[in-house]
Amino acid sequence: MEHNPAEIFFDKLSQVIDRKELIKLVISNQKSKSSDLQNIIITIAQLKRGYRLNFVYRHKTKDITKNYEFTEGIELIRKALVTDFHNADLFSNLENTSLITTPAGKVKMSVHPPTMRPVEEFHHDKVKSRVINTVGNIYLRELEITNANWEVRREMSDKYKQINRYIELLEPEIKDLTLPSGYHVVDMGSGKGYLTFALYDYLANTLGKVPVMTGVEYRDDLVNTCNMIAGKAKFSQLRFIAGTIEKVELEKIDILIALHACDTATDDAIYRGITSGAALIVCAPCCHKQVRKEMNVTGELGNIVKYGILKERQAEIITDTIRAMILEAFGYKTKVFEFISTEHTPKNVMIVGRKMVQENPDKQKIFNEIKAIRDIFGIGKHYLENLLLLK
Ligand SMILES: C[S@@+](CC[C@H](N)C(=O)[O-])C[C@H]1O[C@@H](n2cnc3c(N)ncnc32)[C@H](O)[C@@H]1O
Repeated sequence: MEHNPAEIFFDKLSQVIDRKELIKLVISNQKSKSSDLQNIIITIAQLKRGYRLNFVYRHKTKDITKNYEFTEGIELIRKALVTDFHNADLFSNLENTSLITTPAGKVKMSVHPPTMRPVEEFHHDKVKSRVINTVGNIYLRELEITNANWEVRREMSDKYKQINRYIELLEPEIKDLTLPSGYHVVDMGSGKGYLTFALYDYLANTLGKVPVMTGVEYRDDLVNTCNMIAGKAKFSQLRFIAGTIEKVELEKIDILIALHACDTATDDAIYRGITSGAALIVCAPCCHKQVRKEMNVTGELGNIVKYGILKERQAEIITDTIRAMILEAFGYKTKVFEFISTEHTPKNVMIVGRKMVQENPDKQKIFNEIKAIRDIFGIGKHYLENLLLLK
């Protein structure tokens, strides 16, 4: 019996889709050269409602993305090959398969060894699946974390891991919060917005609780780029504003994030969170210059600040210990932990405070203990302590 190449091709396609081994299918070579649709790229997407075929329809000036159930998607592929395109190139973990219709209408199929890196994303036993989905996620592509085929670019894989890790860490903290509708989230010192976009994506699309979210950043160029990306991603409740952490006007703050905000900018951010009564404050401090400059250790303890790098580490520990104690003093249950391995960034401590009580009865006792620490290390003031006590 003679086998029909198109049927063999579609059998193979169904199998690789079912086994989640489809790397991509490219439908190309238009039958009508005047068509605006250049090609269609199909991959598998893991959405909240299950696996879908993700179609990117690539037009001359825009891309349109749609997700379909497997059966419906395969039917659309068949139709596209009958009416609009001559070629289908299937890249799977096992092989590359091409189906070509010649101008004379003859259908040919060829099979070659695989040329693309196998899909591992969907094999949970082999590779951990990530909270932030890549396929169809426009902001990741605009931030150049993924390429045109929605694959994580090799040089951005650390950044991609970092944002996923960050969302994984925040997940249990946020899931348990009772948040009012239209709750406000602010990211202080949002920079290029990697983590701001990822958090908005998680809150709005995974948790289904759309926040009113603001990224605050004093660099206009970054603010403009981030607003442009938020528009493209259709993140309608996310905006970036040019301003300083200290002075920016915000309606209210339910969740405050400040990641790698330099030196005392972290203190300014915590101050804004505490004084707004934020339910959750998350910061990953950056440098710790203020306390290091103030440290004046004499006597037996002098040796612990004798070596530059160790003095820097001491300053870091003291600064962040006092920040955590201050959060406790203002009624926040506080955790301090490593955010991501030092292989990805040396600035890897995260402080998370969750508001538990309006008034901590031990507040004064905590401030006395802070003073005792300052006295040991000859530190006249801690910037955050001053902000809170002097204002
Ligand atoms: C090291 S980057 C971190 C960016 C982002 N949060 C992240 O973790 O990827 C710090 C950002 O904070 C901004 N920044 C620092 N101090 C600030 C302040 N006082 N007000 C507003 N933005 C500030 C800087 O311009 C920079 O873009």
